[in-house]
Amino acid sequence: MQKKTMWLVVLVLAVLVLAACPAPPPPGAAAPAVNSDSTQQTAALPTPLSGELNLLCTPQVQWCEGMKAEFERANPGVTVNFVRMSSGESLTRLRNEKENPQFDIWWGGPIDSFIAAKQEGLLEAYASPNAALIKNKELMLDVDNAWAGIYVGSLGFATNTNWLAEHPGVEAPASWDDLLKPEFTGQVLVAHPSSSGTSYTAMCTILQLKGEEAGWAFLKAYAGQMLQFTKSGAAPAKFVGQGEAAVGIVFSHDIVAEMEKGSPMVLTFPAEGTGYEIGGMGIIKGAKNLALAQAWFDWALLPTTQELGPKYEAFQAPTVEGAKASRPELLEVKLIDYDFDYCGSNKKAFIDRFTNEIANADALKE
Ligand code: G6P
Repeated sequence: MQKKTMWLVVLVLAVLVLAACPAPPPPGAAAPAVNSDSTQQTAALPTPLSGELNLLCTPQVQWCEGMKAEFERANPGVTVNFVRMSSGESLTRLRNEKENPQFDIWWGGPIDSFIAAKQEGLLEAYASPNAALIKNKELMLDVDNAWAGIYVGSLGFATNTNWLAEHPGVEAPASWDDLLKPEFTGQVLVAHPSSSGTSYTAMCTILQLKGEEAGWAFLKAYAGQMLQFTKSGAAPAKFVGQGEAAVGIVFSHDIVAEMEKGSPMVLTFPAEGTGYEIGGMGIIKGAKNLALAQAWFDWALLPTTQELGPKYEAFQAPTVEGAKASRPELLEVKLIDYDFDYCGSNKKAFIDRFTNEIANADALKE
């Protein structure tokens, strides 16, 4: 080999060796971490949830069934067992099971009952990361994280349009006082406030609008207008649709749900203002499946979950950012400044008074 060629080969080899060596770290730089394990490391995957979740469910049974199916689809290792019970019944059940709770989480029903449950030590606080999504935290998130708001709905009146056609000159009620008109005597249906959160919301609305003294006198006359008291809050919408009574006092979204199915009804609101609910959710103190209850709690605060309502005939408005209301007009009515603390704290006393002095809870219509 000629001398010139040999030098060229040496030069090429030197360049190749230099290119293969990593550059030394600049002075003062930390030495790169050495991975003792030669295999590639991957981020730890969350362990899938598994087990059984016992859910106390207060909204309409179609929505409870839908939520069970959706949660199980999102978490294939989990089975959700639910029982549908009205608010007052649920509260009684939780009180009775305080020493040995059978439910892990209570989902739905006006927060008045959750406020009462918290005061009785029946709820387990949980600071869900998704609670940050709640739009009006002052109103819809308990300061101690005992409960969170999951939906909102206003009270309305459902009147059977066939009945109206048969009673010319009679108009659907447009105020609370209209309910006392003689033409409606024995023609009104509402649930009993001891079993139903809907009915308790109506009762506490009246006490706030009229003041306690006039309110109790009104409630006595109001009870005299009833055909019967039902057990569950939404039942009057169904019965009025079937023509069993002329007027029902129900959450407006439940009236809309019946009208969507073709019930001959008109929806009206009291002009002086109507009450509304914030539907709540809380974990049961002593829940046996706490991790699953927390997972449900987180999931129920996602906008995608809250937008599932209409798929299951539930037209309440969502409480979280990013979820659209299916029927915004139901809240664009005159609402009273409902005092949830007042109604929640007095729930037992008001219901005992109503039951003992005005109408007992025997033989409720189912
Ligand atoms: C219906 C409504 C819910 C409400 C619930 C209260 O299911 O759709 O918005 O929270 O009633 O139930 P209750 O039977 O206690 O009145």
